[in-house]
Amino acid sequence: MKTLAERDQQHIWHPYTQMHTAAPAIPIVRGSGAYLFDENGKRYLDAVSSWWVTLHGHAHPYIAKKVAAQLLQLEQVIFAGFTHPPAIDLAEALLEILPENQKKIFYTDNGSTATEVALKMCLQFWDNKGLKKQKVLALTNGYHGDTFGAMSVSGRSAWTKPFDNLLFDVVFIEPPTVENLPELKAFISGIAIDTACFIYEPLVQGAGGMLMYNAACLDNLMSHCRNEEILLIQDEVFTGFGRTGKNFASDHLTAFPDLMCFSKGLTGGTMPLGVTSCSQEIYEAFLSEDQHKALYHGHSFTANPLACTAALASLELLRSAATQNDIARICQKHKDFLIRLQTHPKVKVARQTGTILAIEWETNEETWYFNQFRDRLYPYFLENGILLRPLGNIIYLLPPYCMSNEDLDFIYAVILQALDLVLS
Ligand SMILES: Cc1ncc(COP(=O)(O)O)c(C=O)c1O
Repeated sequence: MKTLAERDQQHIWHPYTQMHTAAPAIPIVRGSGAYLFDENGKRYLDAVSSWWVTLHGHAHPYIAKKVAAQLLQLEQVIFAGFTHPPAIDLAEALLEILPENQKKIFYTDNGSTATEVALKMCLQFWDNKGLKKQKVLALTNGYHGDTFGAMSVSGRSAWTKPFDNLLFDVVFIEPPTVENLPELKAFISGIAIDTACFIYEPLVQGAGGMLMYNAACLDNLMSHCRNEEILLIQDEVFTGFGRTGKNFASDHLTAFPDLMCFSKGLTGGTMPLGVTSCSQEIYEAFLSEDQHKALYHGHSFTANPLACTAALASLELLRSAATQNDIARICQKHKDFLIRLQTHPKVKVARQTGTILAIEWETNEETWYFNQFRDRLYPYFLENGILLRPLGNIIYLLPPYCMSNEDLDFIYAVILQALDLVLS
């Protein structure tokens, strides 16, 4: 009889994987808390929250209970012309904790579509007003998803290369620093007249390599864009729901974005769901007697009741004192470990924002996604029972909030061991 891995290899094409050379996928048959279990009972500590989605641990009994009950009540209904309690409850719950200018919730089903919708809202906002503002501003090394619009506003890279000619033009600027702010602001003023929006990952550029930048500088740039009538799209698909140590990156900022994007941790990592929130001003630009001014965007599973229910349950857990204490605990543990890393000779740079810890390893190659070092690190951690998926020579820790201090200490110890062994 064929093994699960063999059957997988025969029939399945995996994401972000060179199928010709990749090792067979590891079949995971069960998850519990911070652990994943393979078919032989070997357990892996999920140090990256399964692509940054899992908040409270795998197969969380409270979320499972709520989703199971909803499954017997209403599993799906068309969301044009109809609505349902989980979608309404979730919209209210989100708006309660988002920046006060966020007034409307638009549902989709993943992070890429959340950003696609935000871009379309901005471009159509100006179009509905009869203004030709079509330039989009974005950050170099940014990542907003893999659909064409989301790819267009992401930094050009090996991932976008085969499509570069087909992506729409975007003006890229460096993330703001104390040094480059005056220059960036002058540049933005020069193009403001025909610029529709600025899309950015606040504080941490995740897929770009966990690159971190200063909240005060971003605040300053956001205010400048507002003054220049450039709409702000804050992509919190990655940073949302506690990752930065606060509920949202916007809780570190004073300026308000016009639109925000969420997915990943939105459902606690249980089910796919995307959200684009926006201000009343954005929403009102689509209100008209003219049918053509509506937003013609939707997906079959928009606002799926099961996904909304999972998100509501996850939000409840996130807002509990226990989870807030866990987030603070992980932030402090990372901070203490960071001090040890900063003087390590094989660490090029180590950085932290909240529960996100990134370590750039000193290698003879440049720092990038295809750094060969990854091929040695990834299996090393797996052998030690840790799922830690490096971005080239950058490894990062992004634990679910339920991860214990003992498990964190174990991961830190294996990282230090790897620093000594893997390179020597
Ligand atoms: C900031 C950001 N935006 C958008 C996305 C795309 O999300 P999804 O993979 O759900 O399409 C990602 C995914 O990593 C992300 O990190």
